Order: sequence, then C-alpha cells, then structure tokens
Amino acid sequence: MMMGKFGLLVLVVCYVGLFLGTVHVKGLGVNWGTMASHPLPPKIVVQMLLDNGIKKVKLFDAAADTMSALAGKDIEVMVAIPNIQLLDMNVYKRAKQWVDRNVSRYSFNGGVNIKYVAVGNEPFLSSYNNSFINTTFPALQNIQNALNEAGLGDTIKATVPLNADVYNSPTSNPVPSAGRFRTDISNVMTQIVMFLNKNNAPFTVNIYPFLSLYDNKDFPVNYAFFDGGSNPVIDNGIQYTNVFDANFDTLVSALRAVGLESMPILVGEVGWPTDGNINANTANAQRFYNGLLRRLGSNQGTPLRPGYIEMYLFGLIDEDKKNIEPGSFERHWGIFRYDGQPKFPMDFSGQGQNKYPIAAKNVVYLPQRWCVFNPDAKDLSRLGDNINFACSQSDCTALGYGSSCNGLDVPGNASYAFNMYFQFQNQADLSCNFQGLARMVTQNASQGTCNFIVQIAFSHTLKPFSLLIMMVLTMILFYLVL
Ligand SMILES: *[C@@H]1O[C@H](CO)[C@@H](O)[C@H](O)[C@H]1NC(C)=O
Ligand SMILES: *[C@@H]1O[C@H](CO)[C@@H](O)[C@H](O)[C@H]1NC(C)=O
Ligand SMILES: *[C@@H]1O[C@H](CO)[C@@H](O)[C@H](O)[C@H]1NC(C)=O
Ligand SMILES: *[C@@H]1O[C@H](CO)[C@@H](O)[C@H](O)[C@H]1NC(C)=O
Ligand SMILES: *[C@@H]1O[C@H](CO)[C@@H](O)[C@H](O)[C@H]1NC(C)=O
Repeated sequence: MMMGKFGLLVLVVCYVGLFLGTVHVKGLGVNWGTMASHPLPPKIVVQMLLDNGIKKVKLFDAAADTMSALAGKDIEVMVAIPNIQLLDMNVYKRAKQWVDRNVSRYSFNGGVNIKYVAVGNEPFLSSYNNSFINTTFPALQNIQNALNEAGLGDTIKATVPLNADVYNSPTSNPVPSAGRFRTDISNVMTQIVMFLNKNNAPFTVNIYPFLSLYDNKDFPVNYAFFDGGSNPVIDNGIQYTNVFDANFDTLVSALRAVGLESMPILVGEVGWPTDGNINANTANAQRFYNGLLRRLGSNQGTPLRPGYIEMYLFGLIDEDKKNIEPGSFERHWGIFRYDGQPKFPMDFSGQGQNKYPIAAKNVVYLPQRWCVFNPDAKDLSRLGDNINFACSQSDCTALGYGSSCNGLDVPGNASYAFNMYFQFQNQADLSCNFQGLARMVTQNASQGTCNFIVQIAFSHTLKPFSLLIMMVLTMILFYLVL
C-alpha cells in the first residue's frame, strides 16, 4: 500500500516535471544573427539548436541558406525584414513579393515552420533620428495584409520588434503603472498596436537590463539581476526588485492606457554580453541568465502579467562584425563563442540544473597557427600604425578597458591585433607581416584570460549554379583540347 502510494507520487511528480519541462522548452527562443566574419555553416547551427532543445529561433533576415537548413526541422522561426527594406515594403506589390519569396515559398509540409515576420528591427530607436518613423507602420500593414491574402494570416503574424525606449514613465512618477508610449511617437505606436490587435499579432519588445546599467552610472547593479539585493521600487503596493519586471510592466501599462491591457507580448531580445565592457563578463552573464531562465521556467511572469512569457535570448553566437557604435560589448552577446563553443553553464529548461550547453559539432578550424609581434623587429616606429590598421580590419574589442585582454603590455597588444587580422584573413601568408613587425607561430599565443583565437575554416561551398558553370567550362575546355 505504502509502496503503491509512493509509486503514484513519483509518477505524479515525474508527470508534472515532464509537463513543466515541455512548457519551458516551448517558451525559450534564441536570436540567430550572422554579422560575423566567419559565420558557422547554417546546418551546424541548426543541429546545435536541436541538440540543446531550442525550438524557436528569431532571424534578422530570410537568407536562403539559413532557411533551407531550418526546413523540415521542429523549430519555429521568426523571419525578418531589415530596416533598410522598410521603405520598399510601403509598396504593396513589393510586400507581396517579399511574402511570396520569403514566406509562402517555405510554407509547405516539410518546409520551414514560420510563425512570425519581424517588420524592421528596433526602427524607432532614438539614435535613428526618426529615419523609419513614417515607413514602419505602412510596411507592417502591407506585410500582414500580404500574409492574409496568401492565406497564411491565421498562422503567421507580422510584428515589429521594438526597443524598450518606445515607452517610458514620466520622470515625475517613474513607476511601471505610469507607463505610456513615448510622446513623440505615441500616434504611430497607437496605430501599430491597434493594427497588431486586429490581426491577433503580438507586441514584440527588446529588454536589456545590461544597457540600463551601461547607460547610467548611478544604476543600482543588483537591480539589473534577478537575485535581489537592491532597494525595491514600490508601485501601488507592488515591490519591483529587478528592472526587467519594471520595464515589462511599464509596457503593460502603456498598452492598458490605449485599451489593450491583455495584448500578448513577446520579448524579442534579452541577454547579457560577456566581454567589451567592465560589466560584460562571464560571471555577470551567468548570473543574469541563471535568474532569467529560472523565472522563465517557473512561469512566474511579472507582477502585472503573471504566467508564461515567450522570450528570445540575445544572442546565440558572437558576431565579430556587429557595429560597435553602441559599445564594444556588441560583438560579445553570444551564449556561444564564434565557433559554437559554450561560454558558461546554464539550463535552458529553467530548472537551475546548470551545465555547459552542447557545443557545435563538426566545426572545421584553420590550422593551429597564430600571428604575433616579432621580438626581433628593429624599427618600432610604425608599430602603432600597424596595430591600428590590424584592428580597423578585424576585431580588437577584447583589448579595451574592463575587457578580457585589457591587461596586455604593448607587445601583447600588438600580438593580439596582428593575430585577429591574420585570422580574419583566413591566415593568408601575406597577412602576417606588418612591415616585418610580425611573425607566425604554431604555439598557442594566448595570455592569461586573453584568448588568441584560431578562426574556423570558411565553408566555401560552391553554389549549384557556379558548379554548373564550372562543369560547362570544363566541357568546353575538354572539347577545345580534343
Ligand atoms: C527575401 O529575403 C532576402 C534575405 O533577407 C532578401 O535579400 C530578399 O530581398 C527578399 N526577397 C524579396 C523578393 O524581397
Ligand atoms: C542622428 O543625429 C546625430 C546628431 O545629429 C548624428 O550624429 C547621427 O549620425 C544621426 N544618426 C543617424 C542614423 O542618422
Ligand atoms: C514623416 O512625416 C511627417 C508628416 O508628414 C513629416 O513632417 C516628417 O518630415 C517625415 N519624417 C521623415 C523622416 O520622413
Ligand atoms: C592596449 O590596447 C588597449 C586598447 O587600445 C589600450 O587601452 C591599452 O592601454 C593598450 N595597452 C598598452 C600597454 O599600451
Ligand atoms: C589556447 O590556449 C587557451 C588558454 O589556455 C585555450 O583556452 C585555447 O583553447 C587554446 N586554443 C587552441 C586553439 O588550442
């Protein structure tokens, strides 16, 4: 009898665990950006997603090789229209073409499981000076209408991933419940959310506690994380202990103010970088994700929106060609390194069972060679110029203050810069000279916390078309020789 009850209990616990487990995995997505000098082949990335149980991915375009790698896989996809194409999409015919070419084409049994089309990427960011202020809403309308016309509108929704600076609370009353859309864009924001609502599409927002900390010297560090330790913000009896909840609920309030209190909200981007700034390091990233994923796993939601939140982590892999105008950390958002190696333990299912995610498989590296400062070099007068050149053509963001390679001496700085350039250039022989200031070595040149990387081999897979041309040329040559 006892055993029987115990057995039943175990069964119930397992069942509940299993049930919650499924829910968690369903909630978690990742952003897959490809602004890298050596992007991992899409097939390898897709396998890595599957190996880690990640079933949702948000893209920044609809590149054909990415889409074909996702075809037939159990992964939900958000495809995207970059900001520079928004103006184009103001013409309905062009929007229809985009949908035909990049959505309908993949919408068949065994095709790509597209759930959303992201129209633009943070188009109302203040730093864009209103460049996309008049083109975003018409593009959104045209894309959703084209989806509807193609018979896909019930399952595929157009949305606009917006930066969290599209809403705020007045400085006189900086609490979540006072949230409103930014005054200068409140008209267009209202039009957008009304249209989203009409089509049962979600609001998509990117929330970055790291940027709150980065932008404001006086920001209380603990308030950026989920494990307490900061003075709570008290709002109508609710205690906010972290900026993520406060930010999310500011949006909930802004939506409530226009009568859309229960509009679904997706978190399009959320994450923490690991290098390029004093607060961007593995320990902070691990702390942030640990808190975030546990909350996701517990389906706790926020005070104004309890329950499940659909979220996409930013990002999947480091991107060494991202624009660093916002800061050097921009190239270090990956939960995986450039080569698909995990950076720190985490638990995607939100159970707190942190372990290293499964690395990318079958990654092919360039040979074990590094380019370093040549200690025999006599004339050092042009060393600075050469370092600057190397950095301007590669990625030296790890050298800056507070970053993983900041402690190097001058020769160390030179070596780091020369090696990054050399790896960017696929280790081409001529790329390790620098007027005699550099030499190639086969011994790992890494120093302390500073990793001197070996890049991955470029997958120069021939396109079927070029293959055809080559075959034809070979045949012609063959014919001529005969
Ligand atoms: C489809 O998406 C690709 C990749 O984002 C883009 O370059 C192309 O212009 C799109 N096709 C059409 C017809 O707009
Ligand atoms: C926005 O305006 C600022 C100041 O006028 C300028 O420095 C910046 O380049 C502009 N940005 C864009 C994207 O036009
Ligand atoms: C957007 O439209 C408004 C009103 O027509 C106009 O005043 C403004 O200059 C436009 N902005 C841009 C960036 O085109
Ligand atoms: C190395 O380069 C970084 C980034 O340019 C700089 O901040 C640092 O001062 C340099 N170190 C030395 C010893 O020159
Ligand atoms: C070089 O050494 C560093 C530090 O020990 C290590 O992390 C890295 O994996 C090594 N690189 C290669 C290509 O073996």
